[in-house]
Amino acid sequence: MDTPSKFRNVPKTAQTRLLIKGGKVVNADQQFFADIYIEDGVIRQLGDNLITPGGAKVIDAKGKLVMPGGIDTHTHLQMPFMGTIAIDDFYHGTKAAVAGGTTMIIDHCIPQKNQSLLEAYDQWRGWADPKVCCDYSMHVAITWWSDQVKEEVETICKEKGVNSFKMFLAYKGIFQLNDTELYKAMTCLKENGALALVHAENGDIIDENCKKLMDLGITGPEGHLQSRPEEIEAEATQRAIVIANQVNCPLYVVHVMSKSAADCISVARKEGKVVFGEPIAAGLGTDGTHYFNNDWCHAAAHVMGPPLRPDPTTPGYLMDLLANNDLQLTGTDNCTFTKDQKAMGKDNFTKIPNGVNGVEDRMSVIWEKGVHSGKLDPCRFVAVTSTNAAKIFNFYPRKGVIQVGSDADIVIWDPEATRKISKETHHQKVDFNIFEDMVCHGVPITTISNGRVVWDDEQLHVTQGAGRFIARSLHAPEAYSRVLVRDKVNQPIRVPRDGYDGPVWKAGTQPPKDGKRPPPMAMDPDAPLPTRRDLHASGFSLSGSQIDDRVKHKASHKVLAPPGGKSSFSFS
Ligand code: URP
Ligand code: ZN
Ligand code: ZN
Repeated sequence: MDTPSKFRNVPKTAQTRLLIKGGKVVNADQQFFADIYIEDGVIRQLGDNLITPGGAKVIDAKGKLVMPGGIDTHTHLQMPFMGTIAIDDFYHGTKAAVAGGTTMIIDHCIPQKNQSLLEAYDQWRGWADPKVCCDYSMHVAITWWSDQVKEEVETICKEKGVNSFKMFLAYKGIFQLNDTELYKAMTCLKENGALALVHAENGDIIDENCKKLMDLGITGPEGHLQSRPEEIEAEATQRAIVIANQVNCPLYVVHVMSKSAADCISVARKEGKVVFGEPIAAGLGTDGTHYFNNDWCHAAAHVMGPPLRPDPTTPGYLMDLLANNDLQLTGTDNCTFTKDQKAMGKDNFTKIPNGVNGVEDRMSVIWEKGVHSGKLDPCRFVAVTSTNAAKIFNFYPRKGVIQVGSDADIVIWDPEATRKISKETHHQKVDFNIFEDMVCHGVPITTISNGRVVWDDEQLHVTQGAGRFIARSLHAPEAYSRVLVRDKVNQPIRVPRDGYDGPVWKAGTQPPKDGKRPPPMAMDPDAPLPTRRDLHASGFSLSGSQIDDRVKHKASHKVLAPPGGKSSFSFS
């Protein structure tokens, strides 16, 4: 069934009453055997021997795992990009998502430079709302900076249900922000209680590298990889961490693709900084050796930014960090282009539309590479595919957990079954699959979205437009609890002291050649006396030493340092 119609206000029938029996419920914190009764899209009862109203459709889940549906934190469905539009639109993309056990996506509204953010937001909602087959939410990108953008960010935060904004340090001249703009944008996001998302690659250096490689005659997809070595990603990741820390704004690094970028996040977290890292299915499931494939189409199909890394141990390394909570959750960056679309760059790799698939296969790939390999247990699988996303983006416990009162977004998972991934059988529109021929243990048997069976026995039962926009409120506790306390305890320090009233050197004058003191007229009588320190130039940091450590302060002045620093100390 595949009906393009609205279905709200349907009568209570077996369609809206479901009883899942005999399965093992897996949440991020525990696993237990329980039946689940669902009505009107919400989990109403959980436990043994439930007393439920008649007329419910019974789903036998014996031998299966019953988990919160996947939440894909990073998609670009029908995104206009690099002169074309991503082929998987909100219909095909969400249809494929539920076939893979994902019941919610967070897509991106990306305004053009100088476009109103509010206008872009309405445009994207207009594309998504009539087509989505599962619930969705939206990050909004900040691709330029002005007073208008600042005002619009505030409006979007307060009125549009968006609490996460994406900034690009790459795509020079298109989406890229410079450091000052990033600082201002992060300051604004912090003031509003939103989360700063960053695409971390140094766009200026990429631009120069691209010109150099093209001049050398390297026009194929291998040029894409070589224009963006790991340190290009690591540098930008570290820069984003520093700038976010300067303004005490929580940071979320999207599509962490390399060991060195992941290490930056891991170290920052050890230092107590509020940073989250999102590896994606592509980076966990395959690698960048494909860029050297002799078949141009095959190599081009893997072009994405940041690129997949040619070091084949990278996916396993990223999975280890995911296992240990150095990285927290997974998305896909699903942004798909057909062979013909990729061929726009047949003579110039800089024109190959960037993006790969993942929205359908993320859950199976992570089960295979994570759980089947022994790196993740099923609870951690749920954490990194669903729960942590709901917490960080602030819609937990509405989603991301199986408990009474939560939305009935559920996947019934057969850990024993296997399936082979192929473009021939996938539900996406794109004509290539970067995971082609991967055999995955762990198969989504049934997917329930908002209390309705949308995928069962390899059949889709979706309805275009049935998905809802999920509004998210500000100050997500997962991101903001610590940040707000730090605001209070880490105030910049002002040193009260007598003003300097001696002579002041006049700018631009030369000292006399004989080394003697300059005549009094060389002093600038108008120069302000340096009576106080410029607080904005302060180098105070959230952890570790302060630049004023050696300055004497009032005995009563106490400063609390965050985790990683001293717990409390006083100056004397
Ligand atoms: O190559 C990619 N990642 N395409 C989508 C846009 C982005 O940078 O996320
Ligand atoms: Zn990106
Ligand atoms: Zn992206």
